[in-house]
Amino acid sequence: MATTPSLAPTYDPERAAFYAPIPAGPSAARQPRPTKKLLASISFSSFFLLALILFIANQGRQGPQPKLDDLITQTPSASADSFFPARPTVEPPSRGVAQGVSEKVFRPVGGGGNLSFTWTNFMLSWQRTAYHFQPEKNWINDPNGPLYYNGWYHLFYQYNPDSAVWGNITWGHAVSMDLIHWLHLPLSVVPDQWYDINGVWSGSSTILPDGRIIMLYTGDTYDVVQVQCLAYPANLSDPLLLNWVKDPSNPVLVPPPGIGHKDFRDPTTAWLSPDGHKWRITIGSKVNKTGISLVYETKDFVKYNLLDGYLNAVPGTGMWECIDFYPASLIEANGLDTSANGQGIKHVMKASLDDDKNDYYALGTYDPINNKWIADDPELNVGIGLRYDYGKYYASKTFYDQKKQRRILWGWIRETDAEELDVLKGWSGVQSIPRTVLFDKKTGSNILQWPVEEIESLRSDIVEFNDVKLRPGSVTPLKVGSASQLDLVASFEIDHKESVEAIVGEAETGYDCPTSGGAAKRGVLGPFGVVVLADETLSELTPIYFYTAKGHNGKTETHFCADGLRSSEAADVDKIVYGSKVPVLDGEKLSIRSLVDHSIIESFAQGGRTVITSRIYPTKAIDGSARVFLFNNATGISVTASVKIWKMESADIRPFPLDQL
Ligand SMILES: *[C@@H]1O[C@H](CO)[C@@H](O)[C@H](O)[C@H]1NC(C)=O
Ligand SMILES: *[C@@H]1O[C@H](CO)[C@@H](O)[C@H](O)[C@H]1NC(C)=O
Ligand SMILES: *[C@@H]1O[C@H](CO)[C@@H](O)[C@H](O)[C@H]1NC(C)=O
Ligand SMILES: *[C@@H]1O[C@H](CO)[C@@H](O)[C@H](O)[C@H]1NC(C)=O
Ligand SMILES: *[C@@H]1O[C@H](CO)[C@@H](O)[C@H](O)[C@H]1NC(C)=O
Repeated sequence: MATTPSLAPTYDPERAAFYAPIPAGPSAARQPRPTKKLLASISFSSFFLLALILFIANQGRQGPQPKLDDLITQTPSASADSFFPARPTVEPPSRGVAQGVSEKVFRPVGGGGNLSFTWTNFMLSWQRTAYHFQPEKNWINDPNGPLYYNGWYHLFYQYNPDSAVWGNITWGHAVSMDLIHWLHLPLSVVPDQWYDINGVWSGSSTILPDGRIIMLYTGDTYDVVQVQCLAYPANLSDPLLLNWVKDPSNPVLVPPPGIGHKDFRDPTTAWLSPDGHKWRITIGSKVNKTGISLVYETKDFVKYNLLDGYLNAVPGTGMWECIDFYPASLIEANGLDTSANGQGIKHVMKASLDDDKNDYYALGTYDPINNKWIADDPELNVGIGLRYDYGKYYASKTFYDQKKQRRILWGWIRETDAEELDVLKGWSGVQSIPRTVLFDKKTGSNILQWPVEEIESLRSDIVEFNDVKLRPGSVTPLKVGSASQLDLVASFEIDHKESVEAIVGEAETGYDCPTSGGAAKRGVLGPFGVVVLADETLSELTPIYFYTAKGHNGKTETHFCADGLRSSEAADVDKIVYGSKVPVLDGEKLSIRSLVDHSIIESFAQGGRTVITSRIYPTKAIDGSARVFLFNNATGISVTASVKIWKMESADIRPFPLDQL
């Protein structure tokens, strides 16, 4: 770490009164990677001891583990029959919780690690995406500090350089000119100081008016306390921002009185305070079961002042991670810089709920004088109302793209398979396709998310199907060349709309995608939609569909769902139905856009009012065997569909040729 001159005054013991690091700290920490140091920590050794005991206990119960290589057969097999005996479930150790972040191990319902299915190398390698951002290998989680600088989009991300499971968290780094094709760069911020030796966790960037770049991130200290740290590029003339300097005054913030040492993380991008001379950031936390957002004010990003009260607080929502807070224009069709406020602007607040691993947002009004954000609808406040995405999507973050005047949202798509499978695949986690975020002027009550326009540069070989009649109970195959990488746009009209009013009385009340039983459960007015990643015989399939039912007020309401129940023949992956309601205005057709990229499907209803990211693991409906269908399982209505399907090229994602600079 270079100790370049900084914005930094000296260490202020008063600020750290509630969390005093060992004085030897700063100098004791100049080693490249955390290894032995971890084990030396007392609080840590008890965790390791516990893990060791659990490990030994597990070993005792089931004898020697088979080697991972032995679990992979070399030839593709379309059969679900297991060629080796099913082994007892091996519960992977918890990851993240002991250090004070959310659980990073996914435990499929019915037990994880039950590799009863014969996964072949071919099946496993097919799961990897072709046009989503992924590192070359290993574990990835939250997007961090995204920004546009001197011709390059920068993405930093939570990364384990050592394996496909969470741990040793470091900032990975990649750049792109179009948000689609990426070049991997060397690690940027690594855990090498006493204040971040247990992990360089999530953070955000702020570009100051004078062109400087501020990066704030959460460090997990040697004794497992969450602190905020300041870093900046070593050389602003380098458009790749290859080298980063940690400020000598780090940590710049420690947990304030009343806040748990493990409940203080993920600083946001800063916005200007009303006087125009100071900056504000918000940081997520909790008090008992109330999720809260603390606001700090600073002039220099080194010394901070905690403002009174909370920007927002919602009882019962638990720890708020990765808060995002930004303005959205009610009038213009473009995005806004994070500091924009005033007439014609609403503020979006988002929190990632540690308790249920979903990203919730709400629209509201920001009063900078009283440092309060008030939800438009208190019943739909953060954590109890709308979600960005009703599938697997977490720890998201937006940034303002000054090149195209838009606000762009990134999110982490986590795995929903057994950890052992991630180790076999050699990777875990994907970043969503970046989405533009706009206020929905038509409904006035939600945002619109839409894949960035650049994704359309990957489209090729369009196939169109117009006015396809879908009678009750029908399934119609759509002939497309290859169906693992698609951009699909479909619209649906219910024939004889007036008949809906006549039969809505027969529709059920209180429909809910997750508990509905999926697309095989037929009702009068739904489901109907598309089926992707299905094999010829529909033994594996993922339906994405609408379901119209009766609301509690007796009126029709539309639900948008993605059914993963039959998405895979493997027993060791999660299979659930995702979805929620979607607003449909008078005269609108129903519309779906789905981006299919191997084991990820991102689906957008009604122009992005409701979004679902499906994390699925097909075993038969892959490669040349993947098919697309239209279906209508409603019993009471016929539907007419029109569909455009593009094949998607793969994105070019590879290491930056630094040697050619
Ligand atoms: C593991 O999977 C097999 C085959 O699907 C099943 O019979 C067994 O009950 C599962 N074990 C556990 C603990 O879930
Ligand atoms: C963390 O890094 C160390 C040293 O590189 C390595 O031995 C260890 O396996 C890593 N842990 C994880 C969980 O990746
Ligand atoms: C800063 O980056 C520029 C552009 O890459 C390079 O020419 C220059 O040598 C760098 N300066 C230092 C001090 O590394
Ligand atoms: C948190 O819960 C404890 C125990 O129930 C209670 O004593 C305390 O007052 C609560 N704190 C706040 C801020 O509500
Ligand atoms: C439609 O419902 C039938 C009967 O439940 C079911 O067998 C079929 O798989 C469903 N179609 C789709 C596309 O889910």
